[in-house]
Amino acid sequence: MNIALIGSGGREHALCQKIYESKISSKIFCIPGNAGTVKIAQNIDIEISNFEKILKIIKFYKIELVVVGPEEPLVKGIVDFLNKNKIKVFGPNKFASKLEGSKAFMKKICKSYQIPTAKFKICKNKSQVNDFLKKSNLPLVVKADGLAAGKGVTICKTKNQVLNVSDQIFKGKFKSSKKLVLEEFLNGEEASYFLVVDKNNFKFFGTAQDHKRVGENDTGPNTGGMGAYSPAKIINKDVEKKIINRIVKPTLRALKSKDKHYKGFLYVGLMIKNGDPFLIEFNVRMGDPECQVILPRLKTDIVEIFLNTVNDKLKNTVIKWRKEKSMTIVLCSKGYPGSYTKNKKIENIDKINLSKSDYLYHAGTKYSEGQLVSNGGRVLNFTSIGKNFFIVRKKIIHLIRKLNWKNGFFRKDIGWREIKKNANN
Ligand code: AMP
Ligand code: GLY
Repeated sequence: MNIALIGSGGREHALCQKIYESKISSKIFCIPGNAGTVKIAQNIDIEISNFEKILKIIKFYKIELVVVGPEEPLVKGIVDFLNKNKIKVFGPNKFASKLEGSKAFMKKICKSYQIPTAKFKICKNKSQVNDFLKKSNLPLVVKADGLAAGKGVTICKTKNQVLNVSDQIFKGKFKSSKKLVLEEFLNGEEASYFLVVDKNNFKFFGTAQDHKRVGENDTGPNTGGMGAYSPAKIINKDVEKKIINRIVKPTLRALKSKDKHYKGFLYVGLMIKNGDPFLIEFNVRMGDPECQVILPRLKTDIVEIFLNTVNDKLKNTVIKWRKEKSMTIVLCSKGYPGSYTKNKKIENIDKINLSKSDYLYHAGTKYSEGQLVSNGGRVLNFTSIGKNFFIVRKKIIHLIRKLNWKNGFFRKDIGWREIKKNANN
């Protein structure tokens, strides 16, 4: 079966690799892909929000299944568009994608179904912000309602900061919406829980914890993610039961009550406090770099999972996992998440000898006149699996040092929380 994969990050290279290993796939087309996917698939350079052009390619290459990596085309309705044209797509429709595309939509569901989440107010003007400020303690979190490429959330320590950040959102800083969600700050440990969902069922698809801050010891500005590890020990059986019963089931019920249903990956972003999970966010896709850390542990054919989801046959699908620990460290361009220079040569990649338990996923990379160069802030993802996080991290850092990319930097403390708790974790 010919399969198209939409996206160009480390997440998509990891998905592409799994699709490539599947017994069901024949040719893979990545739209637009990167310098990693081009080795196992055909990259096609089309803008991912140009649905008409994507449809033409799908018809031309007789593609039978489309897998969507990032949120933007999902929120813009690529699934509805392709389904209308009788194309099978793995991913949620436009309505269900509002779980990520509109924080206000997600919070309204939480309120109607008593889903545990931070206390909040949806604000359209300054006086609503002032109302909430009067009733709440600082810090407070200001969130732009719509998609904001990871830049829409600000944790504010002062009233003035809340007012300034809100004002910018009302003035249209984020084009996707002028609304905002103001919410209380939750303390606890963050973790992510993943599911694959069809019309009637859902199946566990791994847990992970990522490191969003750019600096060691989780300091400095937020990024897309500097590294991650899986599994997340904090999500034990008891916490998992609460996540399913208090958060996942009521959310899926809420969509069904509107005669809509969810299909695809569901990323549940959580704060865990004293063994109780609170919903921070839903994402309607796999995480990046969480995907790169989870997929090496997957034993089941991923295309079988995709097809069973699309055909609503998840119920009898058994998804198997390797028991080893997995970690990803992201090698970034110097300057990221601020300004950085692209097109920097990456020379030593052929010197890196990957063992069977190591994986190198490309993200912001491309070939320019036959030379591998950087093409983004997050450039390469080094993943490894093994007995414990300490050993795995050592192996990864050794590989990154072999590459010795002068224009890059990475965090050496990924997984610190687990490693500090117990060296054998
Ligand atoms: P979001 O886009 O909603 O995931 O927010 C981005 C990041 O901001 C999260 O991963 C958390 O680290 C942090 N964050 C968001 N909301 C809260 C909250 N209510 N309390 C504490 N931290 C939060
Ligand atoms: N790593 C966070 C995300 O994918 O949203």
